[in-house]
Amino acid sequence: MCALHEEKHSHITYESLLEGNKEWVAKTLEENPDFFNKLSKGQKPPVLWIGCSDSRVPANQITNTNPGDIFVLRNIANVVVHTDMSMLSVLDYAVNVLGVEHVIVCGHYGCGGVEAALANKQFGIIDNWLRAIKDTYRLHHEEMDAITDHKERCNRLVELNVAESVYNLSKTSIVQNKWANGSKLSVHGWVYSIETGLITDLGLSAAAPDKLSPVFHVNEIPK
Ligand code: CO
Repeated sequence: MCALHEEKHSHITYESLLEGNKEWVAKTLEENPDFFNKLSKGQKPPVLWIGCSDSRVPANQITNTNPGDIFVLRNIANVVVHTDMSMLSVLDYAVNVLGVEHVIVCGHYGCGGVEAALANKQFGIIDNWLRAIKDTYRLHHEEMDAITDHKERCNRLVELNVAESVYNLSKTSIVQNKWANGSKLSVHGWVYSIETGLITDLGLSAAAPDKLSPVFHVNEIPK
């Protein structure tokens, strides 16, 4: 898991976080005196973001957005598995209550979780979570086995893991019911580069009802 803890701790302390909060409130109010008043009325974010817990990939900063703009779920290596109650609850609430029109899975190159999944050693409890990424490897083993460079292997598996997470979202009854009702809902796969700060849209056309393998359809498709 080198990418997760190769850097030394920064100057951040417990106290400095609280100080930072006060400074942020003062600066925000100076720029927009109505900021908190407006936000306290409620939220209507148009986007659900499912990303990695990695401290270097914060949804709002890298998309130049503000509090209130993005509903967020983060876990190690942005894995989407159908037994995750937290993911299902967030997805259901975002889609059916908040009415988001876009669900974005955003992975990142240099992901320590994906790198750990490629390794043949134990890291602890996390191995069970990362197992889903090993399954993704198995699905694409011919392509993966042909890549010899370690960094390239990691980065390709990052992309395949994002794709798998997107397809797993498309397999949920939550997403498929929305599609069956004719509601506008898109599922996207992105990858963020920590080295450049730029996001790439993987353009996953398979994240649509007619592209899913029939065994995963949970609504009857009209003949
Ligand atoms: Co990561």
